Amino acid sequence: MIKSIDFAQLYREHLARSGRVFKTPSEWDSKAADMRTKVLDSGYRTEFVKRVQCGAEDTVLDVGCGPGTIGLALAPQVKQVYGLDYSQGMLDAMQENAAELQLNNVRLILAAWEDDWSAVPVCDIAVVSRASIVADMDAALDKLNQHARKKIYLTQLVGGRFVSREIEELLGRQDRSFPDHMYIMNMLYQRNLYPTLDYIESPSRLAGCNSLAELLDKVRWSFNELTAEEEERISAWYQRDPDYAQQGGEPTRWAFMSWTPPAH
Ligand SMILES: C[S@@+](CC[C@H](N)C(=O)[O-])C[C@H]1O[C@@H](n2cnc3c(N)ncnc32)[C@H](O)[C@@H]1O
Repeated sequence: MIKSIDFAQLYREHLARSGRVFKTPSEWDSKAADMRTKVLDSGYRTEFVKRVQCGAEDTVLDVGCGPGTIGLALAPQVKQVYGLDYSQGMLDAMQENAAELQLNNVRLILAAWEDDWSAVPVCDIAVVSRASIVADMDAALDKLNQHARKKIYLTQLVGGRFVSREIEELLGRQDRSFPDHMYIMNMLYQRNLYPTLDYIESPSRLAGCNSLAELLDKVRWSFNELTAEEEERISAWYQRDPDYAQQGGEPTRWAFMSWTPPAH
């Protein structure tokens, strides 16, 4: 019965309902300088990397690599890392980080999930960290399965929210949750693949604001423009308990999925 449910279609319908506005490569370019060093020292990174099994002869494809969060942590343990991203700014940041860390086994690939991947190398391991809210999950899973020989590691939001439900309700916005990890779990099961599931918690995306202005900027990044009334509501929420507001509310919970791809 469960194998006859079209989870790929349900995923697309959920994504459409979420009103997801896909960011352009240049929008990510503008975040690259800020993200370059920040992401290299986080509990999330440590938790992701310690769950990855790899050896000195392995090659790794890091999809949506950003400034090298996962790929550069694995590089000292493996033969070769390929960072794939559609933002040149992110790839430049990864290159700069690799140079600072004196890593010479890192190559960069400017490509999107949606591109033809026939020139993308098939690696032993593929990692996808916080970079898999794609329009077509079926196609993305096919690409990953075709580009990894041993193992695939992927994180996806639990509940499909970057910000807390609390802020969403405060703004009176509709449920904008993205399709979460359960679609992927089911789509893999339907392919006769058996992922293991674990969870990683990290501070809310709104955490670490030292002022109301910073909080408003972060909320805008997630919710796009705010009306004056919405700004007032955020302001009142901030003033009520600045410590709590600076924590950004509930933590973000990531599902960490890993599976063995089908033999090629
Ligand atoms: C949230 S960041 C994650 C970066 C890194 N993997 C991490 O966990 O810190 C998302 C990354 O995915 C990239 N990205 C977004 N959409 C993409 C697409 N369609 N194709 C390729 N890369 C994409 C962005 O440029 C950005 O570097």
